[in-house]
Amino acid sequence: MASTGYDCRVRINGLTISYDDLGIGSIPVIFIHGFPFNKISWYPQMEFLKTSHRVIAYDIRGFGKSTAGDESYSIGLFADDLRSFMDALEIDKAVICGLSMGGYILLNAVNRFPGKFEAVVFCDTQCIADSPEAKEKRYKNIALIECGGIVEFTEAFVKNIFCRETFESNKKMVEMVKSIILSTSPKVITATFQALAQRYESCSTLKAIDIPALILCGREDIITPPGQAEFMFENIAKSTMKIINRSGHLSNLEQPVEFNKHLLNFINQIVK
Ligand code: MLT
Repeated sequence: MASTGYDCRVRINGLTISYDDLGIGSIPVIFIHGFPFNKISWYPQMEFLKTSHRVIAYDIRGFGKSTAGDESYSIGLFADDLRSFMDALEIDKAVICGLSMGGYILLNAVNRFPGKFEAVVFCDTQCIADSPEAKEKRYKNIALIECGGIVEFTEAFVKNIFCRETFESNKKMVEMVKSIILSTSPKVITATFQALAQRYESCSTLKAIDIPALILCGREDIITPPGQAEFMFENIAKSTMKIINRSGHLSNLEQPVEFNKHLLNFINQIVK
């Protein structure tokens, strides 16, 4: 039986996965972080929900305190890890919440293992594959990081992920996110850039999603803009969508009170 609490560990697929497992509940809520972050980025949701629900946040392989393994990274591989992680924790079904890359992983997993999900939450994410321009930008970042430019990459990256208000007035959060990125191995960041650039589109599979879905997006998200959320909302039959004002790409961190309110309302309809 796996343990519960902060910084628990479980072995799957030749890796050690680090996770927090808090609270009590029949159907857990599992959080998948975005790129290049880790489970700490779900802290406001974990602390808020742990009094009423079982909540689990894990570090994707190579991120946070999880080991990296030596396979080539892909979104499909990350989705396989999610499935193995649930099996290792003996979780039959869960509500899964993924932000950005976490949403790409969730879309892949929900298509391949639909029986494992009670409901899904897609935050600041999209179903499209990278355009040639987006791919080129990722390869430029890979080259920059391989030449020792991780700090330069991080400084430029954080300018795009927050809305202007957060970036200018919440320096503590900006520094926290920078420190998460800088604590991640540059090799893992470049390997994940490859995985993101090579991912397939999932838009053609949205109509097959037959479980309740909540779609959240920051109004000022320029990485996965509200138009992408609207497309998902229009194509997933049992979906609801909330656009979060005064937020960029990290809506769960930039507007945690509003984000948590929508999340709790949704989860309470699913998990009785
Ligand atoms: C993320 O937040 O996971 C990434 O920004 C996603 C992406 O670059 O496509």
